[in-house]
Parts: sequence; C-alpha cells; structure tokens
Amino acid sequence: MKKWYAVIGDPIAHSLSPFMHDLWMDEHGVDASYIPVHVKPARLKESFDALKTLGVGGFNITLPHKQAIVPFLDELDETAIIMDAVNTVTFDGQSYKGWNTDGDGFVRSLMTEQIALHEKVLIIGAGGAARGIAFALKRANFHDVSIANRTYQRAEELAAATGSEAITMQDAEKSLGDFRIIIQTTSVGLAEGEALPLSLDQIQPDSLVADIIYTPLETPFLKAAKEKGCRILNGVGMFVYQGAIAFEKWTGIRPDTEKMIHIITDKLG
Ligand code: ATR
Repeated sequence: MKKWYAVIGDPIAHSLSPFMHDLWMDEHGVDASYIPVHVKPARLKESFDALKTLGVGGFNITLPHKQAIVPFLDELDETAIIMDAVNTVTFDGQSYKGWNTDGDGFVRSLMTEQIALHEKVLIIGAGGAARGIAFALKRANFHDVSIANRTYQRAEELAAATGSEAITMQDAEKSLGDFRIIIQTTSVGLAEGEALPLSLDQIQPDSLVADIIYTPLETPFLKAAKEKGCRILNGVGMFVYQGAIAFEKWTGIRPDTEKMIHIITDKLG
C-alpha cells in the first residue's frame, strides 16, 4: 500500500513542508504522499487517533502542537525529552516515537559554512528555539557558547543545562566583537523598523550572523549585520535540514539538501 505522511498545525496552509517532502519523494523515487492537516488545539488527541486509524507512516508537528503532542506518544527520543517538544513522529509498526530535529537541523545548516568548533558562539534568546540549538551545539562539540537573554535568569538556566556561559544583554553588546558566530533566536525585530534585540555596533565584519527566521529571508537583524560586512545565514537551511533528518528517519534516504535550499529560497524570494 502506498505510504503517506503528514504535517499537523494551526494554521497549516502556509507550511512549506508538503512542497519540500513531495519534491524529495519524487526526486528519490519514494512512492508516498505528504499532506497538510489543519488541527485545532482542542482536537489534537482525536486528530492523532484519526491519523493512526488511517495508517499514517509518520508526521511532522508545527505550532502550536509541538509540546501538546508529547503525552500522546508511546516513546520519545532523548532530544525530544530534553526539549519537551516534538517536531517529528515515526512509526515502526508498533509504536509512535517523537523526535525533535530542529536544533540538529540548525547545526547542520551552520556546518555548511566555513566554521571551526573552537569559535566563540553567542546565542541571543533562551526560549524553545534557543534551547534546541544550545543542546545541538553541545552535541556537535562546540566548546565556547554564550547565551544572552532579556530575562537573564532564563539564560542562566539554559547555560547551566548545556555547559555554556550566561551573559547579560548589555555585556553581550559590549563584547560582541569577540564572537565569531552570532545566532538570533528571538522573535524581536521581525517587523521592519522594530528595535533589534541588541545593538550591532561592536560586531566584527568577519563574523557569521544567523537567524532562525526564513520569512522574510532577510530579517532586519540580518540586514543590519550585512551592512556591517558580516556573512549572514537565514533560517531556510535550518528548515530544510530539520525536514531532511525527518525524511531520512521515515525512508532511510538522505535527501538532496543543497538543491532544496536553492529551490525554497527562490520560492520565498
Ligand atoms: P521560541 O520557542 O520561539 O524560542 P519562546 O520560548 O517564547 O519562543 O522564547 C522567546 C524568546 O524571545 C525568549 O528568549 C524571549 O526573551 P525572555 O525570556 O526575556 O522573554 C525573547 N523575546 C521575546 N520578546 C522579546 C523582546 N521584546 N525583547 C527581547 N527578547 C524578547
């Protein structure tokens, strides 16, 4: 029987995951479909039951269900436990297992740039996205990671959990020139004209500045970094790699990521 996969979220119409997975399935000769399913929060449990009844092969989870799905799953991967959030579910014929591929997706995207593990990294933010990235950087053996956050206590907690350093936003601004890799994970400065999460006055032009957002392709933060002469990395790579890790778990095939980053970038550009 033909396999099928899905992505659930609310809203879901904007999701690029069906486009991406369908293309990969075509390209790699996988006889399967991938469909978007609109699931309201109050109907998460019955929607999951319906997916099971209808024989879903696996699925992705987007906002706002990443945490809410956790109690319904049979098993969790270690990263999903740390995150208490799931973006991918696999089914081995017996149990539904939750994974979180967001942080590793970001780090794979980062590793396509010319960077070394000893370089000084600054994460701005200490929310869910920052948590995934901080743990993934640790797994990838980056040894010098600092975390700055508006609420300093959250930076301290995340730093303690990941063996990183917590730093105040003020100190991060002052010492920005020391960091070679700067990762912006907050939702601040998404809109044109909004203040940036921190001033880039002290940044060095040989730094790499990454944002996890991909709509717009260039956030005001990335634009400001580019004006300072920095290399920039938007969130398209993270999106493509988190999906590639899920695709590989479902099909055993490592899909073509480089071409997909170009295709998605063109589509959004
Ligand atoms: P996500 O899962 O997307 O990371 P989140 O867990 O709500 O979302 O975290 C949002 C992050 O953006 C946090 O680091 C938050 O800082 P606080 O911990 O101080 O709330 C940060 N953030 C949100 N609005 C902000 C603002 N106006 N200025 C600075 N940081 C902000």
